Amino acid sequence: MEIKPDVQPASITSEDEAKRAVHKLREAIRLHNYRYYVVDDPIISDAEYDQLMAALLDLEARFPELASPDSPTQQVGGKPREELGTVEHPTPMLSLKSVQDENGLRDFNRSCRQKLNEKVIEYIAEPKYDGLAVELIYQRGRLVVASTRGDGQRGEDITANVKTVREVPLVLLGQEGEVIPERLVVRGEIFMRIAEFRELNERRARAGEPPFANPRNAAAGSVRQLDPNITAQRSLHIFLYEATHVEGREFETQWQVLETLPKWGLKVNKERLRICSGVEEAIQFHRELAQDRDHLEYEIDGSVFKVNRLAYQKQLGVRSRDPKWAVAFKFKPRQMTTRINAIEVQVGRTGVLTPVALLEPVQIGGVEVKRASLHNLSEIERKDIRIGDTVLVERAGDVIPYVVKPVMEQRNGSERQFTMPDKCPVCGSEVVLSDDRKTAVCTGLACDAQIRRRIEHFVSKGGMNVQGLGEKMVDKLAGAGLLKRLSSIFELNRDDLLSLDRMGAKSTDNLLREIEQSKQQTMARFLFALGIPLVGEHLARVLAENFATLPDLMQASREELQKINEIGPEVANSIVRFFADQKNRSVIAEMLAAGVQLSNPLYQAEYEPLPLQGVTFVFTGTLERWTRSEAKALVESLGGRAVSGVSRRTDYVVAGPGAGSKLQEAAKHGVAVMDEKQFAEFIDRYRKHL
Ligand code: IVH
Repeated sequence: MEIKPDVQPASITSEDEAKRAVHKLREAIRLHNYRYYVVDDPIISDAEYDQLMAALLDLEARFPELASPDSPTQQVGGKPREELGTVEHPTPMLSLKSVQDENGLRDFNRSCRQKLNEKVIEYIAEPKYDGLAVELIYQRGRLVVASTRGDGQRGEDITANVKTVREVPLVLLGQEGEVIPERLVVRGEIFMRIAEFRELNERRARAGEPPFANPRNAAAGSVRQLDPNITAQRSLHIFLYEATHVEGREFETQWQVLETLPKWGLKVNKERLRICSGVEEAIQFHRELAQDRDHLEYEIDGSVFKVNRLAYQKQLGVRSRDPKWAVAFKFKPRQMTTRINAIEVQVGRTGVLTPVALLEPVQIGGVEVKRASLHNLSEIERKDIRIGDTVLVERAGDVIPYVVKPVMEQRNGSERQFTMPDKCPVCGSEVVLSDDRKTAVCTGLACDAQIRRRIEHFVSKGGMNVQGLGEKMVDKLAGAGLLKRLSSIFELNRDDLLSLDRMGAKSTDNLLREIEQSKQQTMARFLFALGIPLVGEHLARVLAENFATLPDLMQASREELQKINEIGPEVANSIVRFFADQKNRSVIAEMLAAGVQLSNPLYQAEYEPLPLQGVTFVFTGTLERWTRSEAKALVESLGGRAVSGVSRRTDYVVAGPGAGSKLQEAAKHGVAVMDEKQFAEFIDRYRKHL
């Protein structure tokens, strides 16, 4: 069966041809009805469904002998889910006819005006909610039945589930003098807010359950449950938009109905309702709503216009599927299906590789879409997206188009699985994939795609700490083609810098001096600056504590690295790969050749604890050989501490001439006292160990 039969009704002239096309369309539409209404998991976009339906309606109108009571055009919606039990609607729940554009709305208005013989018609304008239509029946103020639309005549009994929706009153209120009717039949839309839909999907992902494709499916799936406990756990909301039966109460307009429902405790979307006088005001409403669409908490797919005066509604009447007094004006569709011709991998500034689908071009929301983001490998695997797949693509507002899901039913076996390249497509360096398969990073230092970001990191405060080389300056240098590799920083010369826009002699010299100074560097900072994947500031220090020199680290094996406490297999792998990369090695060699010199004070600190570690001194009186601060620095360089007050925790008091109360304190606490000569001998003994 074809899922999207390509039927052009206008080009069909023979009855034979029409018969075949009608058959194909009905088969496809039946499948889509089932997918949409019964399993809440559509496989084509609403717009594509509408196209199929329009083609079928067109053919049935032109070839009336092909019409059939079983045709999907004779039916609204799908078959009810049997396990839920069914409910007969007191009056059929109709669908809405759509107009495609502003002129379509003007045509609708013209026909209403003619039939009603009115100059200006008042319409109620409201959003078209993308949720699940429901009917609620209240008897003597109590909710007795809630049902879905089903096939329009009979819907599913969802009473138990709807009773768990907090916004649906189980008992009506009688506020502001409104008497509660004996019997009330109202209709509206149950929906899930976008934020709540996302949270629900996150929870489902954590529990290993498949996600819902969109808030509409999530709402429908939650309401059409066999277990009301599950519905109760979902955040659902309702907006009511119609009352088809209010016993003992007459209304003149739709607006009065909408004003009255809240007095009974029923929720109406007051903020988004408007009375429009004439069609131009209606068009204005639609334009404003389209602008606001992305800022709403819930999804809508267009606007709905209803003739306000109920007597006029009656006069206009209904067709088999839809009323003549109302119309939907849908927004341009945001979803379309198309084919993935190939998957390309893009390298971002951070070196992260992002798979991008190259699509068979398709119009979505008035824009041609040729590429769509696939986010990351884990997403591709989770959704099982393959090259050659027909996929549902969404483009919402300013958001980058993305692939929602593949259409499994369209597979023919020729589709190919995507694999993340193990070499960067830009520079050929190794690619490292994180354990959760969400981030793939290029390890190449010389990778052009990443060079700006890497240089920013290289010169940052925790790294080489080159002041005056911020993001703007890096962009300027890169723009002038002066940054090819990390080592390019050390190749910048005065003329290059002076030739840049708004670079004077003074700032040039300052920058060159800063760069020069940064060449005297500690190994820990240098390692951090290199931007080895998974090695941050802390691990850079750990590495410096464990390897005396850069060559030692560069030669280390995975096993050696993993012996270090804080280094696991992933990090060890990343380090080894980084230094195995020939391009990385040559960039490092260039830096060393340019005069980068590394010292590593951390190495000793870890392996031979300094001799005076934990020993506390107090100096008092005058010293001859040293100033106080020199003596203090001496002690500290051997790992000791010099403090000002004597206490039980003091180990030695060094007393010169003129020492006062501190000597008494020392005696009181039993602290050893030495003079300057003894202190010098003491220090010398330890200095030899260094
Ligand atoms: S009025 C006879 N108003 O659209 C009037 N329907 O295509 C029929 N819908 O089944 C309903 N927002 O699920 C109406 N503001 C709104 C609506 C709305 C969404 C849905 C509803 C209905 C379908 C008809």
